[in-house]
Amino acid sequence: MSRYSFFKRACVSASFLALTGGQSPSSTDGVARPIFTIPASADEGANLIPNILDPQAVNAQDVCPGYRASDAQEDGQGLTATLTLAGPACNVYGTDIETLKLRVEYQAASRLAINISPANIDSTNSSHYIIPEDLIPRPQPEASYGGSDLKFAWGNNPSFWFSVTRQSTGDVLFTTKDKKLVYENQFIEFASALPEDYNLYGLGERIHGLRLGNNFTATIYAADVGDPIDRNLYGSHPFYLDTRYYETGSKRLVKNAANPGKGHNGHHGEKGSGGGAGYESRSHGVYLRNLHGQEVLLQPDSITWRTLGGSIDLFFFEGPSQVEVTKQYQISAIGLPALQPYWGFGYHQCRWGYQNWTVLRGVIDDMKAFNIPLETIWVDIDYMDQYRDFTLDPNTFKQSEVKAFFDRLHDDDQHFVPIVDSAIYIPNPNNASDAYDTYTRGNSSGAFLNNPDGSQYIGAVWPGYTVFPDWLAESGQPWWVNEMVEWHKEVPYDGIWIDMSEVSSFCVGSCGTGNVTMNPVHPPFALPGEKGNVIYEYPEGFNITNATEAASASAAASSQAAAMSTADASSTAIAYLRTTPTQGVRDVNYPPYVIDNVQGDLAVHAVSPNATHHNGVEEYDVHNIFGHQILNATYQGLLSVFPGKRPFIIGRSTFAGSGKWAGHWGGDNASKWYYMYFSIPQALSFSLFGIPMFGVDTCGFNGNTDAELCSRWMQLSAFFPFYRNHNTLSANPQEPYRWETVATASRTAMHIRYTLLPYIYTLFYHAHTTGSTVMRAVSWEFPHDPSLADIDTQFLLGPSLLVIPVLQPQATSVTAVFPGLADGASWYDWYSQTRVDAQAYVNTSIAAPLGHIPVFVRGGSVLPTQDPGYTTSASRRNAWGLIVALDGGGEAGGDLYVDDGEAVDPGRTRYVSFSAGEGRLVVHVEGEYVDGNVLGNVTVLGVGSLGSVRWNGVEVEVEGGMVRYDEQKEVLVVGLRDVTRDGAWRGGWTLSWK
Ligand SMILES: *[C@@H]1O[C@H](CO)[C@@H](O)[C@H](O)[C@H]1NC(C)=O
Ligand SMILES: *[C@@H]1O[C@H](CO)[C@@H](O)[C@H](O)[C@H]1NC(C)=O
Repeated sequence: MSRYSFFKRACVSASFLALTGGQSPSSTDGVARPIFTIPASADEGANLIPNILDPQAVNAQDVCPGYRASDAQEDGQGLTATLTLAGPACNVYGTDIETLKLRVEYQAASRLAINISPANIDSTNSSHYIIPEDLIPRPQPEASYGGSDLKFAWGNNPSFWFSVTRQSTGDVLFTTKDKKLVYENQFIEFASALPEDYNLYGLGERIHGLRLGNNFTATIYAADVGDPIDRNLYGSHPFYLDTRYYETGSKRLVKNAANPGKGHNGHHGEKGSGGGAGYESRSHGVYLRNLHGQEVLLQPDSITWRTLGGSIDLFFFEGPSQVEVTKQYQISAIGLPALQPYWGFGYHQCRWGYQNWTVLRGVIDDMKAFNIPLETIWVDIDYMDQYRDFTLDPNTFKQSEVKAFFDRLHDDDQHFVPIVDSAIYIPNPNNASDAYDTYTRGNSSGAFLNNPDGSQYIGAVWPGYTVFPDWLAESGQPWWVNEMVEWHKEVPYDGIWIDMSEVSSFCVGSCGTGNVTMNPVHPPFALPGEKGNVIYEYPEGFNITNATEAASASAAASSQAAAMSTADASSTAIAYLRTTPTQGVRDVNYPPYVIDNVQGDLAVHAVSPNATHHNGVEEYDVHNIFGHQILNATYQGLLSVFPGKRPFIIGRSTFAGSGKWAGHWGGDNASKWYYMYFSIPQALSFSLFGIPMFGVDTCGFNGNTDAELCSRWMQLSAFFPFYRNHNTLSANPQEPYRWETVATASRTAMHIRYTLLPYIYTLFYHAHTTGSTVMRAVSWEFPHDPSLADIDTQFLLGPSLLVIPVLQPQATSVTAVFPGLADGASWYDWYSQTRVDAQAYVNTSIAAPLGHIPVFVRGGSVLPTQDPGYTTSASRRNAWGLIVALDGGGEAGGDLYVDDGEAVDPGRTRYVSFSAGEGRLVVHVEGEYVDGNVLGNVTVLGVGSLGSVRWNGVEVEVEGGMVRYDEQKEVLVVGLRDVTRDGAWRGGWTLSWK
C-alpha cells in the first residue's frame, strides 16, 4: 500500500505542513489531541547526482589499470589464478584492491561459476563484505559434472579478461576482453560485449517492458516507492536471461530479432510454402550473487555491471532454452518456489480503509449477495492499534468481536490475511500507558538494529518513531516467530502480508534518537484523504466514458491544486555532494560512486546504510535482503502457528530465492491503463525470478478507478496466480460489486479461473518440484519465432492457455498474434470451443467487447477442471472435468496433481496423466491420495468424426444425454458421472470415440 507516492511527494508533504503548521490531530485513536508531525525535511537527503547522469563523472575504464593474472593452476574442476593490479591504483570510486583471487568452477554440466574475491580478507576488516553461505546459499559443485558445454577462457592482453563460450556452437556468451576489471572496496566494475539488438530479460525489480532494451540502466536497490516506471523498486534480482536467435543450423545471429520487419515476413512466407529453413534460439542465464546496491548498464553493444561492494560471484546457466535456464537457476542457485495452499488461489479482496469488523463483514456479505466468489478478506493498517504490529485497534477492531467474526468466516471456508509492517513502534518512555510488549520483548533480547555507536537505531514509519528487526542477530527470528504465535492466539489469521520491507523508514538516519518522548508522532506527509489531500486522479479515457463525473472531479482537482500551489517552494542553485574516496576507509553513507537510486541518497525513505547489526555488519552490505529475511522469519512463524501446514505469505521486498517462502504483489501501482499493461511484464519477470505467486493491485491502488478499467482488470488478473483487488485510503470504493458491469465481468472470469483451479494447482506443483514457470511469455513457449522476443501484451498460463487481454480504453477488439501456427500449433477459443482460423505471423483482430476476455486453449492439451464453487473448498468437493483439445494430428496430453491442498509435506498424493491419440484418451493414475469426486464431462475439441463412444471398452449410451456431439463445431461431450461414482481417479481408464 502506498503511503507514499513518488510522483507527488514534494507537493503533498510541503502542502500538508503548510496547512497544519506541523501539527495534526490524531485520527487513529478517536481522541483529538495534537501530535507532533515529523517535518518533511527529515526525509530529505544530500543532493547527489547519479554517476550515469553526471557530466563530470570519471569513466573508470579510462583511468584504471586493470589486472594481470598469474599462477594459473588448473585442477579437476576448473582453475585458480592470482590477479594483481596491472598499474598504479586508480582509486576512482574507492580503494583499489591490490591482489585478487580468481576461482573458476565447472560446477555442473549446465553451470559455470566464476568467483573473483580479494585475496586477503581478514575478518577484522569489514571493508569487504563477502556473503556467508548460510545467509544466501552459494551453488555448489556437483560431485561428477560430466563435462560442460560452457567453456571458460582468459588472457592478459591488454589486461586480464575472461570469456564464457558455448562450445558446441562457438557462441560467445560473455567476454570482458578489451574492458578493464575495476575492483575497489566500494566499487566493482566488469563488462562484456553483447551482440547487436540483444534480448535480455530480468534484472529486477522494476516497472518496465519484458525485454529490457539496449539503452537502459537497471538500478538494483530495494526502495519503498509507488511503482515509478524504469526505476529501482522493492525487490533485488541480479539475474538475467539472454536469448539469441539464429538461422536454423547456422551460427548466424538474427539481428533486430524483436522487430524483424519485412524480411522476416518474406522469410516465413517461404517456410509456409514448405521451405525448411527457420529460426532457432538459444538462451543462457547469468546470476551475480551480490547483495550490494548496483546497476547494470545496458548499452547498444555491451553490458556493464557496477556494484557498491561485495565480490564478483557469477554463475552462468547454460540452458539452452529459457525453460532449462529457469530450472537450472532455481534448482541449483536460489531454491524452488513454495507449494502454495490451495486456498491461496481463490479471490482476495482488500483495501486501505476498511474501518472496522462491521465494514469488513459487510464486504464479505456483499460479495456473497452479488454471488462473486470471495476466498479471503484482507486488512491494511486500519486494524492496528495506532499502526503497531500485532495489535488490534481497541475502538474499531474490538477484541470482543473477534470470535464471532472469525467463527463465521472460517465456518464459511473463508480466510483472513492482515498486513504486518516491518518496523516496530518504540513506546514513549514518559508514558506508562504507551508500553508495547512486542517492543519490550524484542528490545530485551537484542532483536533490533543499532547505530554505529551501539545505541538503538530509531527511524520512523506509520506508528511514529520505530525500531527495526535485526535479522542477523541471533534473537531476531525467534522473537518474530514468538510475536506471531502469541498474536495468533488473539487474532486467528490465516496468512500474512508483509509490507514496508525495503526496509522503509520515513526519515534519514536515526531521526528518533532523543525524540522518543514525543511518540507517537505523525509521518512527515499527509495520508491520502487527510487534511484535504484528496485523490482526484482517474484512469485515462474517464473523461470520455464518464464525462459529467470527470468534469466535476477535474474542477475539484484544480481548486485543490490552486490551494496547494502556494506551498511549493522550488529549489534554485543545485550544489551536488561528491565524495572523494579516502584510502582504505569506506563511506557507507555517501559512497563515491552514486547509483541512480529512485530516492537519491541511499538513506532517504529507508533505514540508513550505517545502521549496524549485532554481528557488526552494516546495513550498507545487506540492505537488499531485509525483505528476504523477514519473509524467512514469517515463514518460520507460520510454521509454528500452523505446524505442518503451508504458509501463505505475500511480501513486498524480495531477493533471489524469496519464492521459497512467499509470493509477491506488484506494489503501489495506480488506476491507470498503463499499469494494467505493466502487470504482465512484471509477472513474467517474477516467473524468471522463481516467484510464480504474483499478482498486482487489481483495478489499481493509487487514484480512483472506473468501471471500464476495473472490468478489464478484474478479468485479466483472474489469469494471474495471485488475484487480489486493493485500493488506497480515501479513493472511491472498487470492490467488484460496485458496478454492474464489473460484477458481471468478474463473475465471468472467476468462473473460468475456478473451473481451472486443478490446472493452476498442477502448474504450481510442477513449479515447486521442477522450477517450471506458471505465467509464461509467448517467446518462451514458442522459442523458434524471433518476432515474439518482446511480446508482453499477451501471455500463457502454463503451456496450454493463451490470454489476450484488452489493455486500452474504449476498445471492442484486440489485436494479437497466435503463436506457433507456422509450426503446426492450433488454438481453440475457450468460449466457442472452435478452432481459431488465423494466419501465422499476422496480427489478428479478436472481438473483445467489455466483459469479454479472449482466452484460447492450445491444441494438444488436456486441461483438468472442476466445477466451480463459491470457495476453493467448495470447488474441491465438486465434479471433475476434462477439456481435451486435440492438435492437428489428433493428439493431446496433460496431467493433474491432487493432494490435501495444505500439508507442507503431503504424504499422500495422486498424480494423473492424460494422453490422447487415435481417437482415444488414456488416463493413468498413480499415488495414494483419495478423492471421491465423480467425473462430470469430458469435452473433446477437434473431433472431426464420431464412431462409437466407449469407456473401458464398454459402449456409452448415446441416448440419455450421456454423449453429445456437435459435428459443425467438432466438439464431443461425454458425461461420465454414472461410471465414475467411486471417484474419477480411482484407477486408470480409457475413453474412445473412433
Ligand atoms: C537512450 O536513452 C536516453 C535516455 O532515455 C535518450 O536520451 C537517448 O536518445 C537514447 N538513445 C538512443 C540511441 O535511443
Ligand atoms: C464502522 O465504520 C463505518 C464507516 O466508518 C461506520 O459507519 C460504522 O458506524 C462503524 N461501525 C461500528 C460498529 O463501529
